[in-house]
Amino acid sequence: MRYESAIREVRTKFEVLNAELSLHTSRNPIESIQSRVKKPLSIIGKLRRQGLPLTLDSIVENLNDVAGIRVICSFIDDIYSVAEMLARQDDVTVVTVKDYIRRPKPNGYRSYHMIVELPVFFSREKKMMRVEIQLRTVAMDFWASLEHQMKYKKANADRPEIAAELKSCAETIAATDARMMGIRKRIEKLEEEGNGETDFHKSYLAAAPKGSAV
Ligand code: GTP
Ligand code: MG
Repeated sequence: MRYESAIREVRTKFEVLNAELSLHTSRNPIESIQSRVKKPLSIIGKLRRQGLPLTLDSIVENLNDVAGIRVICSFIDDIYSVAEMLARQDDVTVVTVKDYIRRPKPNGYRSYHMIVELPVFFSREKKMMRVEIQLRTVAMDFWASLEHQMKYKKANADRPEIAAELKSCAETIAATDARMMGIRKRIEKLEEEGNGETDFHKSYLAAAPKGSAV
């Protein structure tokens, strides 16, 4: 329940940022948000693998990813913007950051990972809770989801030729992500230069009664 509540707090923060930013920019920097609380069996498995005691205190102390939230962004720069906006909030402490976008994993995995700590207020007490946040683009998510499906519990998935092919796909996807951001920036620049009004919009403006909001 505590971890569910911590996820709610962080989800709301991202939803608020997205609502406000979409007013300013007429687009959604955040495409979607997924979350999960780690299953008890996975918690036990992780504690056992790390030789840690199987107690509630040990979970709280040692595991940073019991509460997990995944924020799927439209473009690469949106990831850095919303991550920074979250980190600046004065009830949020950033515990760790792993930037697998600037430094992808050797297999090609890309995402921006943060562990944050924030207070959650319950009936009798305030608890400092940790949440793992994964920020990625739609394209990075596409790769990570399929790679995860193919990798898990499949003995032949780490054959070198398969790993190389997967990594090459990750690089193609990263290049496309960069191009898509480039296209968006070109459009934004054209709009700033005043070429943004379509013929339709111009004629609509001309036809609209004076002082009307268009
Ligand atoms: P754990 O992997 O949780 O033990 O922690 P870690 O300290 O290695 O954290 P890291 O930030 O590297 O990865 C945490 C999470 O990111 C994982 O649980 C996955 O959800 C995701 N992730 C990391 N690497 C990969 C990868 O190669 N492929 C995919 N599909 N997901 C990954
Ligand atoms: Mg994990």
